[in-house]
Amino acid sequence: MDILVLNGSPRPAGNTSQMIAAFREGAESAGHKVDVVDVCRMKIGGCLACEYCHTKGNGQCVQKDDMQEIYSLLDETEMLVLASPIYYHNVSGQLKCVIDRFYAKLYPKKPGKLSKVAMILSSGDPEMYEGAMFSYNGDFLGYLGLEDMGMFTHNSYEPEMKAEELEALKAFGASL
Ligand SMILES: Cc1cc2nc3c(=O)[nH]c(=O)nc-3n(C[C@H](O)[C@H](O)[C@H](O)COP(=O)(O)O)c2cc1C
Repeated sequence: MDILVLNGSPRPAGNTSQMIAAFREGAESAGHKVDVVDVCRMKIGGCLACEYCHTKGNGQCVQKDDMQEIYSLLDETEMLVLASPIYYHNVSGQLKCVIDRFYAKLYPKKPGKLSKVAMILSSGDPEMYEGAMFSYNGDFLGYLGLEDMGMFTHNSYEPEMKAEELEALKAFGASL
């Protein structure tokens, strides 16, 4: 299946990036197509709440920025992976802008092929995931009705992934 990973970390060698790489290795070994989009390297503005997408835009966002690349991928994606460091108890601001811009594509209904979701989070302190989980549970599982494929977390302020954590992500990808 086509899997879209949205990487909300700006650190190319950080924890989130390493977790994604392990997941990707496993998923690709099982024959899946994995697109990883580094949203922090893109120019994606916040939602303007102009409602163009729900009126004369007919599902198209009025902002012609790098979000257009993600909109195109969402048309083919069966599984979405939201991956982010925890910033102030939630996903990074860069990823939050992308999620808000889903308003054009995923509201009031999701694109046809999208049916599964998973989350990868890295925080400094343990048990810092409630804010991100609130959105995951409410918006992605509840509202959109996506199938919950799992959540993977790590905590350390500097990149310090443990081999067993990376192995678990690789095995998860391979199990899909
Ligand atoms: C702006 C900012 C805000 C942060 N806020 C939190 C927080 O609220 N709770 C926490 O446990 N860690 C927080 N952290 C630490 C990061 O979540 C942690 O270092 C994480 O492992 C970074 O992931 P990365 O290596 O993938 O970038 C914050 C870091 C930054 C830069």
